[in-house]
Amino acid sequence: MKITVAGGGITAQTADTAVIEVTEDGRLASEAAAVDAALGGVVAQMIADGLLTGRSGEVTVLPAGRRLKAKRVVVLGTGKREGVTADAVRTRLGNLSRRLRDMNAGTVALSLQESATALDPTDAGRAAAEAIVMGLYRFDRHHTREQDRPRHAVGDVTLVETSTRRANAMQRGVAEGVVLGEQTNLARDLANEPSNLMTPTIVAARAQQMAAELGIECTIIERAEAERLKMGSYLSVANGSAQPPKFIVLTYKGAGNGRPIALVGKGITFDTGGISLKPAEGMDAMKGDMSGAASVIAAIGALARLQARVNVIAIAPCTENMPGGTATKPGDVVYAMDGTSIEVLNTDAEGRLVLADGIAYAKSKGATAILDVATLTGAMGVALGGVRTGIFCNDDRTMTQVERAAEAAGEKVWRMPLDAEYDDQIKSDVADIKNTGGRPAGSITAAKFLERFVGTTPWAHFDIAGVMSKPADSGVWVKGMSGNPVRTLIHFALNRAR
Ligand code: BES
Ligand code: MN
Ligand code: ZN
Repeated sequence: MKITVAGGGITAQTADTAVIEVTEDGRLASEAAAVDAALGGVVAQMIADGLLTGRSGEVTVLPAGRRLKAKRVVVLGTGKREGVTADAVRTRLGNLSRRLRDMNAGTVALSLQESATALDPTDAGRAAAEAIVMGLYRFDRHHTREQDRPRHAVGDVTLVETSTRRANAMQRGVAEGVVLGEQTNLARDLANEPSNLMTPTIVAARAQQMAAELGIECTIIERAEAERLKMGSYLSVANGSAQPPKFIVLTYKGAGNGRPIALVGKGITFDTGGISLKPAEGMDAMKGDMSGAASVIAAIGALARLQARVNVIAIAPCTENMPGGTATKPGDVVYAMDGTSIEVLNTDAEGRLVLADGIAYAKSKGATAILDVATLTGAMGVALGGVRTGIFCNDDRTMTQVERAAEAAGEKVWRMPLDAEYDDQIKSDVADIKNTGGRPAGSITAAKFLERFVGTTPWAHFDIAGVMSKPADSGVWVKGMSGNPVRTLIHFALNRAR
């Protein structure tokens, strides 16, 4: 499926399916009116009869008759004119894309006349492309039987825009939206893959492959090198695993030799809990415990594809967290790269251990800002559910930038506190700090642990444990791993480039 922008009117298109937007006020814009005329006024008649309301997301399928080249017309309800936001467009078109696939729509000509007027053609094009690319995502590569996969595929999609100037603007948005959507889908692919097929070695190979395709730098720090760098916190998590740990570093230089923004992602390819073993029920979900790593790898890939004028380093400390004869045990003391000693009271609080060295490494590279992304605490899902990512941030300006980026992406965030009083919960009797703070405020004490390694660098920690997956298809989201917050990371870096 390709998405392109074409000039001329929608009635001139040769696609199998023509889609027009109709708002709730029932007034047809020129493109919808042209299609209505070709259909002998059926659309206007249906509106008058109350059979078609224009409510947002309403989908009405009509036969196209003889005067159009299309075989069918789809009328897409666009809601109230003042309610047309980029996020509303994404939600509508994400849902529509799956409806089109189910109805075997073939090639599609889509007029975004209402949306492109309410927003602007670039934003409408970006939102539409993102939604179609993300909405049609499926992870079905392990279904070997035909009947377990979608029966149809959507053909090429042409966004129709009559004015050449606006079509060019829309085309720019589409190009960006396709990259945002495809890179989100890359993160989904990496995270959806089960842990036997997405070991640290395989994540590293995928990162290297992407880097080679995009001409960016990729370094894999192997165990021996990590030992030399004194990454004892990260390595302690790998102790029980037969899989070699891989500390992935991707570097994109879009702005010469200045200091980079660092994106650090938790890369636990499977989290059993280690010696502090998790219960069997639902443990399979922990194949997604490398969603943070997947997000930062995907995001830096997008920035390279968009040739953003910004320097970024993506850091993904990857390992399994396994029990075993050589595994780290509760009570063990380990040392992070920056010399901090850590009492490991619970081996299931492993995310903060790998991030400690990820963050310390980012600092050693001179990062001007650090964003870390992690499926860090079950408590985060309890607090905010599957709707908002909890953000812990030590700098108001950075927080504002994260909020703006998240808003542009349509990925919801909520600021969480970092009061000094919470530090008491992670004081250790035998080391500088311990890796659990007990049940109260579990997400906050995890963030407070990370803060120790950040120092004064502007920093935002994304705890995505609640939002890492979706239970059902809805808008741009599809059941399975979400790829949240890839687009927020991209927008954050793009805004810095401006
Ligand atoms: N990966 C888990 C957190 C998680 C749980 C993510 C559920 C997504 C869904 C993390 O490593 C973990 O086990 N955290 C512990 C911390 C505790 C031992 C302090 C938790 O949340 O229970
Ligand atoms: Mn854990
Ligand atoms: Zn974990």
